[in-house]
Amino acid sequence: MEEPLSPQCRMTAHIRSGPRPRHTQGQTPPHRSARSREQVNVGPRVCPSARGQHAHPFRRTSVKTIALAAAKGGVGKTTLAAALATAATMSCRGFRVCIADLDPQGSLTEWWNDRESTHPQLVSSADRPLAQELRAWRADGFHLAILDCPPGYANAIHKEAIALSNLVLVPTGPGPLDLHAVASTAQMAEGAGKPFRYVLNRAVCRSRIAGRAVEELRSRGGLLWPPVHNRVQISAAMAAGLTVLETKPDSVAAKELSDLWQAVRRLIDGIPEQPRARSTGGGRRS
Ligand SMILES: Nc1ncnc2c1ncn2[C@@H]1O[C@H](COP(=O)(O)OP(=O)(O)OP(=O)(O)O)[C@@H](O)[C@H]1O
Ligand SMILES: [Mg+2]
Repeated sequence: MEEPLSPQCRMTAHIRSGPRPRHTQGQTPPHRSARSREQVNVGPRVCPSARGQHAHPFRRTSVKTIALAAAKGGVGKTTLAAALATAATMSCRGFRVCIADLDPQGSLTEWWNDRESTHPQLVSSADRPLAQELRAWRADGFHLAILDCPPGYANAIHKEAIALSNLVLVPTGPGPLDLHAVASTAQMAEGAGKPFRYVLNRAVCRSRIAGRAVEELRSRGGLLWPPVHNRVQISAAMAAGLTVLETKPDSVAAKELSDLWQAVRRLIDGIPEQPRARSTGGGRRS
């Protein structure tokens, strides 16, 4: 298991940045309009205890991209996108993470608007084709981009997001109908030659249904570990523009999510930076 975040490190994402304009989905977020480039390049404060320990492995010239995609609605795509991006921002010194809300519902945008911190940075995803946006994010110095997809299957947004991602995460609840729906997204990822992993979310602790879901997702290949359990703290933090990593840093929920980020990080460390046309990628068990 990975090292827990130190208390100082946990706070690095919660930066008081003063009042800022609210972002409406489809507009250019403040970092490329009202805000100066100097402000953009001010990353999270360095955690003193993390100096030299959490140096991130990503090159400045690349932006690795993770898509959170699932056919089923309400399985935790937005919650996990926010949590993973925040965990990533907090875990590595100088690690610049952006999030893009590809869902017309704009839930991730709403969450970000409620935050005081500008990290992870919400970026525009509507001005240009996603490939162009990715180039702009790379030019802006981001190391990691997390894409929050709308629910649904095989629409243009999914195809584009998956095609441009280095890794596809498919969140699912533990119920049989949830599990039934994961195959379509996994097939899309496989068809695009992209590595993918299932993320079991909202698992009820020690329940038989969660145990069965773990078995099934393992048998399908590609379950990311650990599962994220159903906890009110996770949802309550989101309602305040935060994540449980910030509101309850010592909780089991925060530990699960930071462990999940570490599992994701280990995966993307080993994935080439430039998206490839096809590979034998997905479906491996972790
Ligand atoms: N692990 C969890 N524990 C408790 N509540 C959770 C958890 N994960 C997500 N939720 C809650 O479940 C609801 C749906 O989550 P979320 O909006 O992230 O799903 P989604 O897949 O993005 O939905 P949509 O398909 O509508 O975009 C939200 O109210 C969220 O707070
Ligand atoms: Mg969502």
